[in-house]
Amino acid sequence: TSRTFVMAKPDAVERGLVGEIVSRLERKGLTLVAAELRSVSQELAQEHYAEHADKPFYDELVAFLTRSPVFAMVVEGPGDDTWELCRILIGKTKVTDAQPGSIRGDFATTTNENLVHGSDGTESAAREIKLWFGDRA
Ligand code: GTP
Ligand code: MG
Repeated sequence: TSRTFVMAKPDAVERGLVGEIVSRLERKGLTLVAAELRSVSQELAQEHYAEHADKPFYDELVAFLTRSPVFAMVVEGPGDDTWELCRILIGKTKVTDAQPGSIRGDFATTTNENLVHGSDGTESAAREIKLWFGDRA
């Protein structure tokens, strides 16, 4: 088994898409092992997206993530590739690349507000689970 971090971002919670997103993960055969609706501090948002600190869209990204509550999840699957399965369900980053059938492809209309985050590797999954859930997952 392996675990990854998935988060319904503020736009998803605002639009009432949390159930849809959780349902897609569960229908795939993945399991929630921890989940929490929470507001996000400036510090946590900056730390979460630290890899993008030098990008021109960083401030906008942090402002977006702290706008309203997120639904943070730890997701488990049977193989060592749970993070990758989740990224496939989520869809491509750029809105015009996100295929129908993926969450972004079916529900997102902009790259900035693309509904869901998923860890992009084994190491980032471990880092993000620790950052968001600490000893609680
Ligand atoms: P996350 O799962 O949220 O990390 O998205 P990702 O892994 O698919 O993309 P990435 O980590 O490269 O970028 C993080 C977030 O920054 C994306 O989800 C977008 O919301 C935003 N982003 C990425 N590229 C751009 C860009 O070129 N312009 C703008 N405005 N936002 C971007
Ligand atoms: Mg990313």
